[in-house]
Amino acid sequence: MEKEYWISKWQSNELGFHQPAVNPLLEAHFEKLELQDRARVFIPLCGKTLDIKWSLSLGHEVVGIEMVETAVVQLFEELQVTPDISTVGKLRCYQAGQLQIYVGDVFDLTATILGAVDCVYDRAALVALPVTIRKKYAKHITAITAQAKQLLISFVYDQSEMQGPPFSVDDAELSSLYGIQYTLLLLADDKVVEPVKGNSNILEKVWLLTATSL
Ligand SMILES: C[S@@+](CC[C@H](N)C(=O)[O-])C[C@H]1O[C@@H](n2cnc3c(N)ncnc32)[C@H](O)[C@@H]1O
Repeated sequence: MEKEYWISKWQSNELGFHQPAVNPLLEAHFEKLELQDRARVFIPLCGKTLDIKWSLSLGHEVVGIEMVETAVVQLFEELQVTPDISTVGKLRCYQAGQLQIYVGDVFDLTATILGAVDCVYDRAALVALPVTIRKKYAKHITAITAQAKQLLISFVYDQSEMQGPPFSVDDAELSSLYGIQYTLLLLADDKVVEPVKGNSNILEKVWLLTATSL
């Protein structure tokens, strides 16, 4: 999607993707990431998800990237913390305590800027992107995180029945995006609890991606 699409969603508060509580699939499967204490969790295309606060509450460090600054301003307001704001390359960085959120295009986030991360939590990130960008995105995330393990939630449905985002990313596509660099383990596979754009005929799949040694 174009940047203007997401800016208009945030400006008009059309945030159907934003959940009012921590994602239950994250709570249920986070431990499968087998993180050490004080790990560094990367959340791409993070919006202002409450999953950030939840991950921080476990004692982890969180680093995110989000294109729309309004989202990041709202995130820090809702956390009731005042960030230090700096410019890093093409990005702005909002930082407070164990939380760092970069504002800008994920493709402008380099491995050097990001630094080492222990895992990636992808909820509504890959599926937010059109098919023409998903290959570039998967390659980029794999590269800047040095193949860090991922907890990834995909949506699978008949794309002809609904326009994305969220887009359908079926198992074959996921495998073509990540199947060489990672071993893909399906952790859960259920119909969405809440309809998405009125459609409840959507499978929500939770995947654990673990680096293969090449
Ligand atoms: C579907 S929302 C999901 C937000 C969050 N992961 C959640 O679960 O609530 C996708 C978010 O990605 C942001 N976004 C879209 N394209 C982006 C890009 N190229 N770089 C960084 N952020 C992007 C949008 O502004 C939007 O807030």
